Amino acid sequence: EKGKYRHYMQKEIFEQPTVVAQTLRSYVRVVDESVALPQIDFDLSAIKRVTIVACGTSYYAGLVAKYWFEQFARLPVDIDVASEFRYRDPVLEAGGLAIFISQSGETADTLAALRHCKENGQTIAVVVNVPTSSMAREADLLLPTHAGPEIGVASTKAFTCQLAVLAALAAHLAVKRGRMSREEERHVVQQLIETPAALNAALAYDDAIAAMAHLIAPARDVLYLGRGQDYPLALEGALKLKEISYIHAEGYASGEMKHGPIALIDEHVPVIVLAPSGPLFEKTVSNMQEVRARGGKIVLISDAEGLAEAGEGCIATIEMPKVHPLIAPLVYAVPVQLLAYHVACVKGTDVDQPRNLAKSVTVE
Ligand code: F6R
Repeated sequence: EKGKYRHYMQKEIFEQPTVVAQTLRSYVRVVDESVALPQIDFDLSAIKRVTIVACGTSYYAGLVAKYWFEQFARLPVDIDVASEFRYRDPVLEAGGLAIFISQSGETADTLAALRHCKENGQTIAVVVNVPTSSMAREADLLLPTHAGPEIGVASTKAFTCQLAVLAALAAHLAVKRGRMSREEERHVVQQLIETPAALNAALAYDDAIAAMAHLIAPARDVLYLGRGQDYPLALEGALKLKEISYIHAEGYASGEMKHGPIALIDEHVPVIVLAPSGPLFEKTVSNMQEVRARGGKIVLISDAEGLAEAGEGCIATIEMPKVHPLIAPLVYAVPVQLLAYHVACVKGTDVDQPRNLAKSVTVE
């Protein structure tokens, strides 16, 4: 079933253009270029607050969505990992929408958090890849991803499909709340429709990323830096690398570097910087200078404009297409997945079945 691929993870990375397109088909109407949720008998315009709960990679998808819901729909968002959320006695006011994100729909902590929110009067939305799962059954608003079965233990295609659904949901909420004009909605939908092409463009860097994997494979520690909605991608990149290559990696908000992690930087610590050009780019460039001044080796993942400005002096660069902020995290997910994958291949680890990990965590 792996076909021409060596691993399920590799196959699943390459399936992303197809499964993201498949997922988006349920969330955008091509005819009038509008966003549409599969279940529209819900009036989401009255929502006062959003709570997002998930674990691991699904949590990082939620963290991206927090930036989107705040920026585009101007909704306040509280987000936590499920294992913390369920025991911290969160304040849940009436009129809240609680969103649970899960590939399996069975993660014990996330399910317990869902039930807690239900008992406390929240409207329950779930973004889930298994439509027959416990979470799907207990949802008021079911927002399925159509990633198909994910076999590799490290989540890849489920993550980008979660992001696709959350991007559509953010745009839907923005429209409902009068924060997004019809024109902007059309623009966003056009961008969403073009996402699979942008993912293909990102996948075209597979060989180049494979060729640079030997630069990362000998490292003992790797840092990932990102700002704004790319910060969760830095966390996700670090998680993927540690899961399958067993290299210690940390994701940091770029601006936090000088508050501690900069002490780690020397010529043995590669720093992967995720930074599309845009209003915050200059700030990231100065963070990169701080790394370089300490002998740090930078891999910059950016678009043509960003690479032209800051690519010089990096040990490697990866060029992404320039896309709307609602699409960028999906596109930037691809190089971080491929980098982790190829580093693991260089190290010869068991990519699909990394040690100590299970696909579905149904115990606390
Ligand atoms: C990472 C990974 C895990 C899961 C987490 C949540 O590659 O796969 O971090 O994302 O265990 O699982 P779900 O999404 O099934 O709730």
